Amino acid sequence: MTARIVFRISVLVLLLYSAVTQKCPGGGPSERSILGWMLQGHVYDTLLAERPFTCVLKCREDNRCQSLNWVISLLTCELNNRTKEARPEDFIPNPDRSYYRRDLEQVPLGSIQELPAESCDEIRRSEGHAVSGKYWFSTIKSGTSVLAYCNMDTTEKWKKINTGPVCFGARNDSYGAFNIRESGVIHTFKLVHLSGSIRCNHVNPPSYWGCDNPSHGDMRLITVITFKNRSALLLAEYSREDCHYFYKIEGVGINDSELRFNNLPSAISVSLGDEFQIWYGQDLKDCSEYNNSGQTCADVYAWYA
Ligand SMILES: *[C@@H]1O[C@H](CO)[C@@H](O)[C@H](O)[C@H]1NC(C)=O
Ligand SMILES: *[C@@H]1O[C@H](CO)[C@@H](O)[C@H](O)[C@H]1NC(C)=O
Ligand SMILES: *[C@@H]1O[C@H](CO)[C@@H](O)[C@H](O)[C@H]1NC(C)=O
Ligand SMILES: *[C@@H]1O[C@H](CO)[C@@H](O)[C@H](O)[C@H]1NC(C)=O
Ligand SMILES: *[C@@H]1O[C@H](CO)[C@@H](O)[C@H](O)[C@H]1NC(C)=O
Repeated sequence: MTARIVFRISVLVLLLYSAVTQKCPGGGPSERSILGWMLQGHVYDTLLAERPFTCVLKCREDNRCQSLNWVISLLTCELNNRTKEARPEDFIPNPDRSYYRRDLEQVPLGSIQELPAESCDEIRRSEGHAVSGKYWFSTIKSGTSVLAYCNMDTTEKWKKINTGPVCFGARNDSYGAFNIRESGVIHTFKLVHLSGSIRCNHVNPPSYWGCDNPSHGDMRLITVITFKNRSALLLAEYSREDCHYFYKIEGVGINDSELRFNNLPSAISVSLGDEFQIWYGQDLKDCSEYNNSGQTCADVYAWYA
């Protein structure tokens, strides 16, 4: 009697176990199926099949296939062009179906023209992690796939620090000060141009953050952020020449609306009220500032850890 119950229980356990961890006969590790669930609204093809595994193989043959619903009563499968990760709201209980995510060689959403995404967010959800770059979208132009850029860097957390505009000039110690409003750890800063521009002589044109004098080569940025004691934060690789604080940052021009600095070699801790200053490098060094003129106003953002 007891032996019989134990046997029955173990058969039950075994059945449940194999239902959850169905291995495909073809070898490769198959993702477990999810019994009693389906993904609705993303079926692009339906086919007859005697076993779910036939569907799994069909799915592997089609770049668009991201997952499938096996319809138990009809012995058919529905191939989906999305996963439940991409569309959690469409993943619903259904007693007559089982859901399978594609097990092998799943094509990342938006990576090919035949599998365009609807948004960068959708790609992020579908892939778990995704790199910034160009992806295909169905939502830009109707009826066709179009490539567009997605910034996937969600680790950047910019917080605006200033309340009013922070303005700095180019001579006579006319730095712009701002105070920390939230204590924490800061990786870097960026300045966003609001108004004005600055000149390093009478001859070369003004710019927001630099000095357009060709004698400085590609080191034409010269806006720096300092502590209150006027020592510059290492937000760029400054030139070591006499009148220093000239530098370059890949992808940032002297007239760009955003001056995004490099990350600090080591993050700094800041406290409420700490003062920082924005300086024009020549003004900070009191070097060759005699003919400088103008003023730039900006918003200051910090990237908190
Ligand atoms: C994905 O499937 C849906 C639902 O059938 C369809 O409307 C859509 O056009 C499909 N997208 C692609 C890229 O095949
Ligand atoms: C800078 O200071 C000098 C000397 O005090 C003064 O003549 C000049 O007008 C000032 N320039 C600016 C832009 O404030
Ligand atoms: C920067 O922009 C200002 C204002 O738009 C313009 O007058 C100036 O020539 C530009 N400078 C450079 C170096 O492009
Ligand atoms: C300036 O202040 C910063 C932060 O308080 C400190 O780390 C640095 O050593 C100081 N520099 C000088 C030259 O005093
Ligand atoms: C300032 O400009 C004047 C006139 O253009 C020039 O003679 C002088 O050398 C300049 N001074 C500096 C320090 O660049």
